[in-house]
Amino acid sequence: MKNMKIAIVTGASSGLGKEYIKEINRKEKESADEIWVIARREDRLKELKDISEIKLRPLPMDLTDKENIEHLRKLLEKENPEIVLLINAAGIGKIGNYESVGLADADKMIELNCRAAVDMTCICLPYMQKGSRIMQICSTAGFQPFQYLNIYAATKAFLYRYSRALRVELFPRRIKVTAVCPYWIRDTEFIPVAKDTQKNGKGIRHFPLSSTVHAVAAHSLTDSRLGLAVSTPGIVCLIHRIAAKFIPSEVMMGIWALLRRV
Ligand SMILES: NC(=O)c1ccc[n+]([C@@H]2O[C@H](COP(=O)([O-])OP(=O)(O)OC[C@H]3O[C@@H](n4cnc5c(N)ncnc54)[C@H](OP(=O)(O)O)[C@@H]3O)[C@@H](O)[C@H]2O)c1
Repeated sequence: MKNMKIAIVTGASSGLGKEYIKEINRKEKESADEIWVIARREDRLKELKDISEIKLRPLPMDLTDKENIEHLRKLLEKENPEIVLLINAAGIGKIGNYESVGLADADKMIELNCRAAVDMTCICLPYMQKGSRIMQICSTAGFQPFQYLNIYAATKAFLYRYSRALRVELFPRRIKVTAVCPYWIRDTEFIPVAKDTQKNGKGIRHFPLSSTVHAVAAHSLTDSRLGLAVSTPGIVCLIHRIAAKFIPSEVMMGIWALLRRV
């Protein structure tokens, strides 16, 4: 009997993750028999059935809890599916300086944005075949150090580097890995959640030229199908990627010091 083909999307309860469910249904309906959707809010995951013709399997879990990763590993072992697409979109950011972002939030960013993304990738890889794809949702914040977004930017730099080198390691298996690096996206829960730690003007005032989930999801899914190493879905993140290659980090942080006050 043929193995069931599945896609797995983390962070599916809102924002970009939810938009990827819509976009997979629009552009890749034939590719998967089921989409396994992961986030903590079960009610939100169950509601996704209204936007998906592909059968969904809601898996409510906190990905920072190692026991849940083990539970998922065992479920994969039992079901033995072929994973055609893994999208690690679950992520959290906090704006503020070293004093206002507390230890709990700092740990949570590292646990979710780095460790959980690596764990998900490692437990899924045994079930991937030639042509399978991984999308690691990084950020344009990963291209340089960012004061007042320090830990978040560092976690995304980690995921970006991990993704790029993993792609090369997976050449022999013909598995495509894409680091998706969007600029600010305005229509998700990310910015309101990120802003609640900023105090005394030590943060970011405005988010100009921000993009939309639809534009980012559609663009990056196409880039993933093309097998690109890096997806910069929008003109701002493309310019940032190029600038950060040539301009020293100290100068980039100086520019950022001006921009974040705008
Ligand atoms: N929005 C932006 O400006 C922007 C820019 C660049 C990159 N990104 C990246 O894009 C990705 C998606 O963000 P978004 O903008 O769509 O934000 P969002 O609307 O806040 O979505 C974040 C998702 O992560 C899930 N999540 C949070 N903590 C979790 C945990 N402990 N375990 C499992 N799931 C968890 C949330 O669901 P539950 O709360 O239900 O668990 C939610 O579905 C993130 O990796 C973010 O870093 C965002």
